[in-house]
Amino acid sequence: MKNQIKIESPIKPFKKQIEVSSDKSLSIRCLLLSSIALGKSKIYNLLESEDVNNTLKVIKKLGVNYIKKEKFIEVHGVGINGFKIKNNTIIDAGNSGTLARLIMGLCSGNEKKLKIIGDNSLSKRDFSRVITPLNLFGVQILSNKNLLPIEMCGSNLLRPIIYEEKKGSAQIKTCIIFSAINTHGVTKIKALHSRNHTELLLKYLNYPIKIKKQKNYDLIELQGLNQFRSFDYKIPGDISSASFFITLTLLSKDSELLIKNINLNPSRIGILKILKKMNAKIKILNIKNYRGELVGNIKIKSTRRLKSINCPASLNSATIDEFLLIFLIAAKSKGISIFKDLGELNKKESPRLDVAIKFLKMIGIKTKRVKNNIKIYGNPELKLNGKYHVKNFLKDHRVFMMSAIAALTLDGHWTIDDKDSINTSFPNFLRIVKNFGAKIN
Ligand code: S3P
Repeated sequence: MKNQIKIESPIKPFKKQIEVSSDKSLSIRCLLLSSIALGKSKIYNLLESEDVNNTLKVIKKLGVNYIKKEKFIEVHGVGINGFKIKNNTIIDAGNSGTLARLIMGLCSGNEKKLKIIGDNSLSKRDFSRVITPLNLFGVQILSNKNLLPIEMCGSNLLRPIIYEEKKGSAQIKTCIIFSAINTHGVTKIKALHSRNHTELLLKYLNYPIKIKKQKNYDLIELQGLNQFRSFDYKIPGDISSASFFITLTLLSKDSELLIKNINLNPSRIGILKILKKMNAKIKILNIKNYRGELVGNIKIKSTRRLKSINCPASLNSATIDEFLLIFLIAAKSKGISIFKDLGELNKKESPRLDVAIKFLKMIGIKTKRVKNNIKIYGNPELKLNGKYHVKNFLKDHRVFMMSAIAALTLDGHWTIDDKDSINTSFPNFLRIVKNFGAKIN
């Protein structure tokens, strides 16, 4: 089968310096916000991946032009309420939950009928989480049991809302913020902490948004219909992509890695906090503030002293895309690790909590699950010699890449399906892995 990889031997010790692909959340947000800014924005280092390409296709359908230059992409923003949408326009979000949910908020002020569709994985994901607040704004939405395809019809007379976001989801929060931008008056959101790139971008753009930090929540207030100017932005590396190589280093022997120019927003670095508690040797260097975002380098050394963690659920949102890797590391750590309240993991590109438990069982690691809490019985001596086949049914990019890291650090003979899934977020993944000397067929 063509779309598989085979890994038969673990990686040799290495000392390397790398950069990884640009941040996906920031790439999608910069494109969407620049499309409703007034004038031409320049986005440097835009991630080149399928989710971002789909975002470009979508803004084009909404009447937003862009030009790809050598070093940046120039987006010709049309201002709030400036989209030129034909009735019955089809918006294809592909694999991207972020694009689908954010675009619904962004288009809430438009009265033409839109149909949102997505791939097989996205069509299994629940949209009630954004349908509920959008309905309160006054958006009309038709769906079959809250799944795609969805038909929506916005309004130019939306009502501002007061909403509590209780899942710690930045997709929901940003959908509401985008809809609030289309709404006359002040929208108020009480949001459980989640990644805050949208708020930081809007602050940088001098948009009238107020944020009060509470212990677990942010209180956000924003004024709608405030036009803002175009901007320039240079997108840093993605901590979620860097995490595959952090894990590769931690689980390899006598290895060292420097990953440069990574977004280190505190709402994204749960993995670093968790790994430090597990005894990992990780240092953050050269940290700088770029337009409200923290950016810096990460240095990692391998260690044989990883220990288990009782992970506080307050770190879940800041770690949400990295749990597959954290579980793999817990599998190779001393002691029993405990993770709680991980229901949201099953709402991703594939049901990742279920997938992780099956995966750990396959490699001989005992787990105990009660509802959405999981215990992982670590084994620092874990070394495999059997045959392992990862059938990645929903073509989940993160399942593919985590499995490759497992294969490169645990021994055994591996076949991993759906290589193309990496194009969603990290098309260079295999090229970088091969540069480490990995033998992959
Ligand atoms: C994202 C938010 C997260 C994350 C996703 C990207 C974003 O989803 O899993 O990969 O860019 O807003 P939730 O906010 O729904 O947890």
